[in-house]
Amino acid sequence: MCGIVGFVGEEHAKERIVEGLKRLEYRGYDSAGIALPIDGRIEIRKHVGELENLEKIIADPTFDAAAGIGHTRWATHGAPSDVNAHPHGNQDNSIAIVHNGIIENYQEIREWLSTEYGVRFKSDTDSEVIAHLIGIYYDGDLHKAMNKAVEDMKGAYAVCAIAAAEPDKIVAVRKDAPLVAGLGNGCNFIASDIPAMLKYIKEFYTIENNETVVLTKDDITIYNEKGEKVKRDVLHVSWDADAAEKEGYEHFMLKEIHEQPKGISETLLRRLDANGNVVLDGISMSKEDIEKLDRIYIVACGTAYHAGLVGKSIIEKLVKVPVEVDVASEFRYRDPFVDDRTLFIAISQSGETQDTLQSLREAKAKGARILSVVNVVGSSVARESDDVFYTWAGPEIAVASTKAYTTQLICMYLIAMYMGRTRGTLSQEDHDRLLGELKALPEKVEQIFQSEEKLAYLAKKYQYKEHIFFIGRGMDAGVAYEGSLKLKEISYIHSFAIAAGELKHGTIALMDPTVLVIALATQDGKIGEDSLYDKMVSNIVEVTSRGARVIALVKDGMEKVEQISDEVIYIPRCADEVAPVLSVIPLQIFAYYVAKERGENIDKPRNLAKSVTVE
Ligand code: M6R
Repeated sequence: MCGIVGFVGEEHAKERIVEGLKRLEYRGYDSAGIALPIDGRIEIRKHVGELENLEKIIADPTFDAAAGIGHTRWATHGAPSDVNAHPHGNQDNSIAIVHNGIIENYQEIREWLSTEYGVRFKSDTDSEVIAHLIGIYYDGDLHKAMNKAVEDMKGAYAVCAIAAAEPDKIVAVRKDAPLVAGLGNGCNFIASDIPAMLKYIKEFYTIENNETVVLTKDDITIYNEKGEKVKRDVLHVSWDADAAEKEGYEHFMLKEIHEQPKGISETLLRRLDANGNVVLDGISMSKEDIEKLDRIYIVACGTAYHAGLVGKSIIEKLVKVPVEVDVASEFRYRDPFVDDRTLFIAISQSGETQDTLQSLREAKAKGARILSVVNVVGSSVARESDDVFYTWAGPEIAVASTKAYTTQLICMYLIAMYMGRTRGTLSQEDHDRLLGELKALPEKVEQIFQSEEKLAYLAKKYQYKEHIFFIGRGMDAGVAYEGSLKLKEISYIHSFAIAAGELKHGTIALMDPTVLVIALATQDGKIGEDSLYDKMVSNIVEVTSRGARVIALVKDGMEKVEQISDEVIYIPRCADEVAPVLSVIPLQIFAYYVAKERGENIDKPRNLAKSVTVE
């Protein structure tokens, strides 16, 4: 998610803007830049990567001004790179803009600008068209030119612009992307988020959709769509900057857990057409490519690997092609059977995990078709894949992955459904039933949040356990691995996950009254001899009879399990296939509260990095 900061005052714009950008780092970004009006021209400096890279190239004290705009970019159109970073200038850099959002008709505008005005584009972004539009409409009045440009733009945007000929002014506009103006003393700010300005000011004006705002050092004037001045009440804020970044949550992990309904909807809705069919926009796999596949590998690490375990179940069920799931550090070295009838699916939140990337290269060299499921646009895994299926989780800051996992699962369902329909192994009726189940998930995740207090209570009660086992069968087994990883990585409690049926082959020897077992038993679709639920009931009895305490995780309506378990956590009723998306949520929340009770550094656990770029 991009971040915007603009400042207009008497001096030191650079320092204010950089400070603001640092405060927006929590949103995630891949490049950053700043534009200042200096000596009758606009000077733009920008750099891919961390803000530190930008700071190095703007250290020169002559690069400063009384006003300016800055940006941290989270790539959507065009890979992360110096040229695609914002700000963008018009043809002669007399205008510069920063933009959050997506200009949907940018291709049309690009064509028009190049045919009619001979505009030559420097970047691959949608945003650059805004600078050129303002440039061609500019006749000495930036506000007027912005209003004209907006008439041509479709999509979502928060845009801030500066002009070399009006160095003491910033003009901004908002439509479906956040923008807030900050009221200073002899200076004013504009930013995509309040934390960017909190170091300097505590009074703000919210900017509403379709409003433009003109900032000088002494004034902030807001205009509505008709060009009339708008009177807005001042918003006084008493939060400190740290609290504001987390939107009131104590940790990013908790915030990200709560962002899952949104991430799931976004990931789902961006891949559905008006008739509710899955569309693989931008994915070049043809019907023939899908039909010729005879083997699929899903390769990933950590949480992403656990998403792959669920992916295997669903793809095999809907597509009827054998799927192997492997951790990338193993796949790389085991000389797997890969040829041009193989589909290699890499799953990675960051898209930079070294083992996953190397496995991808290995599979590609052997002729496999590469489809990646990635959250970070333009990352190495995305760039080196034949096709990319993006998750729309938004930036994930906490090291413990939460919303990336659930959105990866959604991608697994969509890929399976699309391939199942294409290969004729999934009926339209089953497709529609599953789609209905997927669409209901965001609401059901919200319902699970109502159990947060109970989960916090259980966390407090069991925080001193030294060994916690997670067990499950079928799709629940995959989720058990993820629940266990979540718990151990942030609470540092020893935890182990195992397919419940495997317990009796060794691990059951460890069951005694000191042990806590978290038993996932959501798979109740089938009844009778083959019922996974009944088998889980037997497994629960096996461990409780050896003294272990049990927390069972089941669907609503499975209250009978209360008779054999110490505690029961319920998730809303759903089809067995989609239960993993719901059952992982209480496990994430439980892990979070256990770590909190134990006073651990939840967002940055020891020895771990968000992106593992070493082997
Ligand atoms: O960025 P990736 O998805 O490739 O990262 C893979 C793992 O390092 C990652 O999922 C890790 O296991 C998480 N921190 C677990 O919460």
